Amino acid sequence: MIYLVLASLLFSYLAALALYRIFFHPLHKFRGPVLAALTDWYEIYYNIVHDGGLVVEIERLHDLYGPVVRTGPNTLHFNDRRAYHDIYTYGTTLTKEPRFYHGFLAQATESSTVFTDPQQARNRRSLLAPSFSRQAVMKLEYLIQKKVDQLIAILEEYYNSPDSNAKISLAYRSLTTDVITEYCFASSINTLADPNFSHPFVLETQKFLKRVWTQVYFPFIIRLVARLPKTFVLWLFPNFTTILEVQEKFEIQIDSLLNNPEDLSTSDHETVYHHLLAPKDPELRPSRISLVHEAFTLLTAGSDTVGHTCTVGTYFALQDHLIRGRLAEELRDAWLDKGRPLSFTTLEKLPYLTAFIKESLRMAIGAIHPMPRIVSSETPEIAGLKIPPGTIVGMSPYFMHMNPGVFSDPFTFNPDRWLVEDTSEMMLDFVPFSKGPRQCVGLKCGITCSNTNPYEN
Ligand code: HEM
Repeated sequence: MIYLVLASLLFSYLAALALYRIFFHPLHKFRGPVLAALTDWYEIYYNIVHDGGLVVEIERLHDLYGPVVRTGPNTLHFNDRRAYHDIYTYGTTLTKEPRFYHGFLAQATESSTVFTDPQQARNRRSLLAPSFSRQAVMKLEYLIQKKVDQLIAILEEYYNSPDSNAKISLAYRSLTTDVITEYCFASSINTLADPNFSHPFVLETQKFLKRVWTQVYFPFIIRLVARLPKTFVLWLFPNFTTILEVQEKFEIQIDSLLNNPEDLSTSDHETVYHHLLAPKDPELRPSRISLVHEAFTLLTAGSDTVGHTCTVGTYFALQDHLIRGRLAEELRDAWLDKGRPLSFTTLEKLPYLTAFIKESLRMAIGAIHPMPRIVSSETPEIAGLKIPPGTIVGMSPYFMHMNPGVFSDPFTFNPDRWLVEDTSEMMLDFVPFSKGPRQCVGLKCGITCSNTNPYEN
């Protein structure tokens, strides 16, 4: 009997919730699939079962319902360039949506990317920014060059015959992992030590990224795992052994610096810790756990993104011998002394290379998932619409970069599009690093690792 009562209560609750979400919810007037209005499982289904395929579904929904679609009970997605700028570029009154970010980077909740409080994010950004300024990147340019040389030496030694094939996406990810760990922490993981580009850390990171949706929607799994003894975790998830070892390495380095701050002066070069540990004010100085989380964030944010962009660019250059030829010719002409590498300041002046990198960044999209923001009572209209406070809003950069109104024939890789007199309209909608207060901190580093500055015409 009791079960019958409980079942009817549950049924009545669910029926009432469904009626509320469809007919009375503040978003009920926005168009979209009924199922999405009823439950977040719509989004979960596409991201988990279709491996991050929500954006493909969202594109279909925009074709059906127009530029604003209700993609969840409390979520709107826009396909309107004005909305992108209202949400991200000028959107100072919107905050990052905590549920998504706490799940996405569940291992690094105390870090820059995950902070939802704008002041906390600003404070951390002010400590990170000096490490990623143009000046700082140029000071450490030689480190990046050294790693690139290492990759080229491997390609020359092991992949120099027409029959050999290199797993180039893993090669780039190995390179960028080594670059970012050397750059940020003066302690390279040295994944390029494996000339097959199959270093366990690189392979495990790929597996980790594939499973990230599970932790976005079920973050309690990570919280639970964090409470378990490490040996048991490793037995459960042997695929993540090296990631955990790297995390342990961060902890050892951080503990040692906290105990002996004078060691900073003996570091091979400036690291993020020179800036993160500089403030005396406890409000600004990151805690130990926050330093560990920041290290994890910087490694994740700075490796796969750059590796992916390089892979996309290389793919298109290999597809089209004209593009390849023009790149090679421009580089040959600029490279007068073959005994010395070309400097960043020379490379960034090369027009075709710059256009090529811009186009690679456009095609690589950046973070393709719509980065969710929460509307507050102070948020002005978004694309001319008043959106109820508390609504989760977002727009995937895919819809910016593939907008034929701004980028003609958007699915064609065409560096020449950037070689016209006036690129201001395209630059406005060129958002691989996002825009506004939460745009990429490592923007200049991401650019230098790709070897030229696409933000300069
Ligand atoms: C091609 C390379 C890169 C791309 C396409 C890229 C893209 C992005 C995007 C789209 C965001 C905004 C995410 C959001 O709204 O939550 C972001 C944020 C961030 N990126 Fe990058 N990134 C790149 C390289 C780097 C590098 C090299 C670093 C440095 C290690 C870095 C560190 C960060 C950090 C710390 C944030 C968080 C900023 C904040 O929330 O305030 N990124 N990046």
